[in-house]
Amino acid sequence: MSDINILAIESSCDETAAAVVTNGRVIRSNIISSQIERHTLYGGVVPELASRMHIEAINPVIEAALAEAGTCLEEIDAVAVTYGPGLVGALLVGVAEAKALAFAAKKPLVGVHHIEGHVCANFLEHPDLAPPFLCLIVSGGHTNLAYMRDYGVFEILGRTRDDAAGEAFDKVARAIGLGYPGGPKIEKAAREGDPQAIHFPRGKVDEAPYDFTFSGMKSAVLNYLNHAEMTGEEVSQADVAASFQAAVVDVLVSRAVHAVRERKENKLVLAGGVAANGALRSALEAACAQEGIRLYCPSPLLCTDNAAMIGAAGYYRFIKGERAGWDLNAVPYLEL
Ligand code: KG4
Ligand code: ZN
Repeated sequence: MSDINILAIESSCDETAAAVVTNGRVIRSNIISSQIERHTLYGGVVPELASRMHIEAINPVIEAALAEAGTCLEEIDAVAVTYGPGLVGALLVGVAEAKALAFAAKKPLVGVHHIEGHVCANFLEHPDLAPPFLCLIVSGGHTNLAYMRDYGVFEILGRTRDDAAGEAFDKVARAIGLGYPGGPKIEKAAREGDPQAIHFPRGKVDEAPYDFTFSGMKSAVLNYLNHAEMTGEEVSQADVAASFQAAVVDVLVSRAVHAVRERKENKLVLAGGVAANGALRSALEAACAQEGIRLYCPSPLLCTDNAAMIGAAGYYRFIKGERAGWDLNAVPYLEL
């Protein structure tokens, strides 16, 4: 069988990205133009600004992806694009571009779910990995425990009832004056702090052992800060960061390991931007080693938003015969 090359496009949030991926497993190019510096000025992603910056960046990013892969649109087998979930105006830029390119070059179009893309990032670095497996998906917008039964087939076991894990990192970072994006900044500050300095609650949802809740933890941090301000106590940014991170990691690791055990599975796949967190990765590695679970994580660059992961997910949809019509639209709240 000849190779299948997918041109993938991702623009759901604040990264404009394009990649060429062969057979869903091999990255031939992976270009990411990040807008983070611009949004940092405003303390978070400004949707209108994101859309405008995607429009400016998308053509050069796609050209660079094709050039770096040493290929051209004519040699591509299909165009895959993230069509949800995400910011509607941001998604629209990628979707419109993908439709235009596929239509002009007479190539099939494949719509990809952003979160499925995050999970499929693992296929790019672990050639032996294939479903079924359990996955812990932790991003800025999602926190899910899922069972990937087959390529493109997910069963959601647990989800967050309020904030996503990444969102909690971002909000706490803002509260302790670290700014955006919170995850990497909390991780860095936490290295100098004591994870046991302050006890933040590990929220549980009654009757739903795989669901998550982070709002109580976030409120506890805010209460701690308010109390310290009122009493004039000095706050150690590093201790708050380390203690908060430890609480999030604790919850994620215990739920994930519990799910793998209950399901009598032996593989756990980590995915999403928060998967770049070193404390989470090492705690999961230790817990999985103890339980005899094989843990798969993407390298940090493939944890956060990129188009190579969309190319991996798009490939498996493409070989199943899935095609999007020219009426493909952005779906900001697309379900997995
Ligand atoms: O997956 P992603 O790039 O975008 C979404 O699909 O949401 O995830 C972004 C999220 C942000 O909330 C960011 O703070 C978090 O991932 N993040 C991290 C780290 N790097 C990114 N959280 C904790 N530790 C990190 N090192
Ligand atoms: Zn993402």
